[in-house]
Amino acid sequence: MLIDTHAHIFLEQFESDLDRVLQRAHEAGVGYILLPAIDVASISRCLELADSHANPDHGPVLLAMAGIHPSSVKEAAENDIERIRELAEDKRIIAIGETGLDYYWDRSFDDKQQAFLRAHIRLAAALDKPLVLHDREASDDLVRILSEEKEASPHAERIRGVFHCFGGPDAHTERVLALGFHMGIGGTYTFKNGGVPESTNTVPMERIILETDAPFLTPAPHRGTRNEPAYVALVAAKLAENRGLTVEEVSRITTANAKALFGIS
Ligand code: NI
Repeated sequence: MLIDTHAHIFLEQFESDLDRVLQRAHEAGVGYILLPAIDVASISRCLELADSHANPDHGPVLLAMAGIHPSSVKEAAENDIERIRELAEDKRIIAIGETGLDYYWDRSFDDKQQAFLRAHIRLAAALDKPLVLHDREASDDLVRILSEEKEASPHAERIRGVFHCFGGPDAHTERVLALGFHMGIGGTYTFKNGGVPESTNTVPMERIILETDAPFLTPAPHRGTRNEPAYVALVAAKLAENRGLTVEEVSRITTANAKALFGIS
């Protein structure tokens, strides 16, 4: 069984055919799909989907998160973090995310992104839930802020999670491991020049989980089309090839990792 630890299948790109998408995921062996929220409104949508897809006999089980994507922070109200806090207390919420930093699109609100990131980290520590982190061209600040928050937290040991769609740089790999975080490996791992650094190949298998980031970052050979959770099997196959493991071994290890990190029983 595979787990897609990161899929935005609550977005409009899946409005017309979600049932078929979930059927294909089921056929590809995907047992769970984790839904990272992107803003306050999306959290309710994630919870609705989780409630209506909770029975493993009827296809993949969907699990919800609460958080504001760094790119959504620009439009966020200051009290949105209060809303996130209220919603995140719900026991159906398995993780805080996605949060993080994105310096690629817009550098006009770095300070606000960093403030929201710190608030998410503190919330995750308070609630003892894992963090799902987005990093685009912001590795140094992201690691620095995580380290500072860990240092200052009365619950440092609770601060854990994943660098989703890990994209390096090489020097960053060791720092992520030293912080005790996992790496999310997705579609970019199947690209020839996907930005996933060489050092990823020496990361202990125990620290790796699989994801798609659907509908984005579609793995080879489907690049240019919409990504979907069934394609997590292509990521597993590529990882197996690069590590000299069988797909079954990769599935077993990464599924156990994801279950432990997200508290899935
Ligand atoms: Ni995402």
